Amino acid sequence: MNTSSSPLRIGVLGSGSGSNMQSLLDAIQAGTLNAEMRLVLADVPDAKILDRARKHGIPCAWLDCTPFKTKLDGEAEQRCIATLKEHGVDTVVLAGFMRIVKPGLLKAFPRRVLNIHPALLPAFPGLQAWKQALEYGAKVAGCTVHFVDEGTDTGPVIVQRAVPVLTGDTPESLHARIQVEEHLAYPEALRLLSEGRLQISGRRVDIL
Ligand code: GRF
Repeated sequence: MNTSSSPLRIGVLGSGSGSNMQSLLDAIQAGTLNAEMRLVLADVPDAKILDRARKHGIPCAWLDCTPFKTKLDGEAEQRCIATLKEHGVDTVVLAGFMRIVKPGLLKAFPRRVLNIHPALLPAFPGLQAWKQALEYGAKVAGCTVHFVDEGTDTGPVIVQRAVPVLTGDTPESLHARIQVEEHLAYPEALRLLSEGRLQISGRRVDIL
């Protein structure tokens, strides 16, 4: 368990805009999250998350995941782990990373790989979860920060935040409302981790 005297050393994996990564940076800069962002890797060469990292002077790179399209595996996984370790990363944050991570990464960072999912798990795992919620007719949607395990969106839940689904919502309007909560949930989950306040027993994460 980390204590408040030792900052988390975060490595972020992303594929897109990086607004969640930005929320973590903002929390670090505001002094509400005791962490350092050591590295940002993206599997999309021109992902905006890399521009954000460069703007803040954070080491970042494109992670070539060839030949795989939907997972991080094989030689790319080994390269990813090596790069994270070289940068002293102890906590891996998936922030809009559109690939399944495999056991190699999880074994390299035991109980230290976190993900944010745009639904109240276990409802609506998988892609475009906000759209799934809307099409299902759910009245409440939200986001979940969880430890990553070997399943897809199945790991122990750390923090959840809910939003209403409103009449007239589009997938875009609902996703935007969920993202406002994501930007609170991820810093909160990492703050609890950094303070050593997450006790995992089986599937359950108790907040001390
Ligand atoms: C978020 O909605 C997150 O929940 C999902 O992908 C999106 C990433 O957004 N996994 P961003 O790149 O952090 O802006």
